[in-house]
Amino acid sequence: MKVLFVAAEAAPLVKIGGLADVIGSLPKALNDLGHDVRVVMPRYGIIDTARFPISSVIGLVKMQATKSKGPVSLKVTELIGKVKVYLVDSYDFSSSAEVYGKDDLKRFLLFCRAVLEVLPRLDWQPEIVHCHDWHTALVPMWLKRKSSQYSTVFTIHNLAYQGAFDNKFLSDSGLGRDWQLCLAGVPKPPFNFMGQGILWADIVTTVSKTYAREILTVEYGVGLDHLLRYRQDKLLGIVNGLDYDEFNPASDAFIAAKYDALAVDRRIANKLALQKWVGFAEDTETPLIGMVSRLDEQKGLDIVIDSFSSLFKKTGAQMVILGRGREQYHNLLKQAASKYPKQLAVFIDFNDPLAHLIYAGCDMFLMPSRFEPCGLGQLIAMRYGAVPVVRHVGGLVDTVQDLTQDLSEGNGFVFQDYDAKAMLATIERALNGYKNKKAWRRVMQRIMALDFSWQASAKKYESLYREVLEMKEHDKK
Ligand code: GLC
Repeated sequence: MKVLFVAAEAAPLVKIGGLADVIGSLPKALNDLGHDVRVVMPRYGIIDTARFPISSVIGLVKMQATKSKGPVSLKVTELIGKVKVYLVDSYDFSSSAEVYGKDDLKRFLLFCRAVLEVLPRLDWQPEIVHCHDWHTALVPMWLKRKSSQYSTVFTIHNLAYQGAFDNKFLSDSGLGRDWQLCLAGVPKPPFNFMGQGILWADIVTTVSKTYAREILTVEYGVGLDHLLRYRQDKLLGIVNGLDYDEFNPASDAFIAAKYDALAVDRRIANKLALQKWVGFAEDTETPLIGMVSRLDEQKGLDIVIDSFSSLFKKTGAQMVILGRGREQYHNLLKQAASKYPKQLAVFIDFNDPLAHLIYAGCDMFLMPSRFEPCGLGQLIAMRYGAVPVVRHVGGLVDTVQDLTQDLSEGNGFVFQDYDAKAMLATIERALNGYKNKKAWRRVMQRIMALDFSWQASAKKYESLYREVLEMKEHDKK
């Protein structure tokens, strides 16, 4: 099948969050199954064109109804793993050093329009256009309005970001007509991009089964639950996989000692290297908790910060936190790190080598998310033998089962309520489990042997694509 992915980020070209990992790895997994999946994304100024050469210019497109400076052209590059990537090149993207932040609404409106313009002119024609997150959500709407030949799938990676706008943007952008054009029986869409993907794609998916259920409720629906309930019979969850080549402790060039489930004892060298890197006492017995995360509300930073005083007073555990995000958390975390220098190390940074060493060196990996569409950190942690400590929410429910007391079953430590107390009680349970060296070793081996690669999920997308094409055939009759 021929599928065009439309997305705002794709690793390794541009990576801000988990979306980039999915767009960088799912097409490869689908192509391995014999399909032809390609990607179209904006050409940001920060794309390293020395590393990813842009091979050809397909064409210049004169865009109407946009105040964009300069023409829009389409260039082609290839990701590692031979996935073709089309880049929409316009001044609005190439002139900015940031991926997100400035004029996002205007820029992604332009991107959606450009995709629509260039789609019929590509030398290769997809059967399915698969759009990801709010940045691309106007594409299914416009394709539907044009009764185009393409089938559409829309995937929600994070419902919290919707591309919301106001009345002024509605009239300035020319989107007003689309919002007035209400169809009988269709719920009135709110002023944002996301809702349009939900309403008009042939099929809507999200990145875990549990999140697909959760977002139907007012609590997790972020104001779009009514639209999701309206599309409920065409909504499903497919859990994300992990790129097992990229994340592999047996070949990872960033870590101090390579290992696998059979040689898990070698892992200890990574723990010592991590303790050294972050300035802790190098001690194999001290439990070490790791966190690699976007530092924002979603990821549970509030309860982590609330827990510090009792965690560090009550236990001798060490903790390393790496990530970037909201200024407020940067400050609070840095303050805490100077208060507990022997036990807490904080790195406000995107740092791949350190991230890999944390996965390979920490004993427990903490993910106390407030909500979590899928989550990648817990999957990487398990691949590297770090035992996840997670909240029972979203994709964490689908990937982490609570360990029994004797550690003989399960693959992590799970707590329910979003509060520091519940999290602390579960960290303490993990610290107790850690004392049982033999059983802990077996847990490490067990979680490393689990398979969270893309294979199974890519097959699910494959049957979903078949279904979407059959729907089209059926409609034609
Ligand atoms: C978003 C979600 C995360 C998910 C990722 C990829 O970043 O917050 O849970 O894993 O998208 O789908």
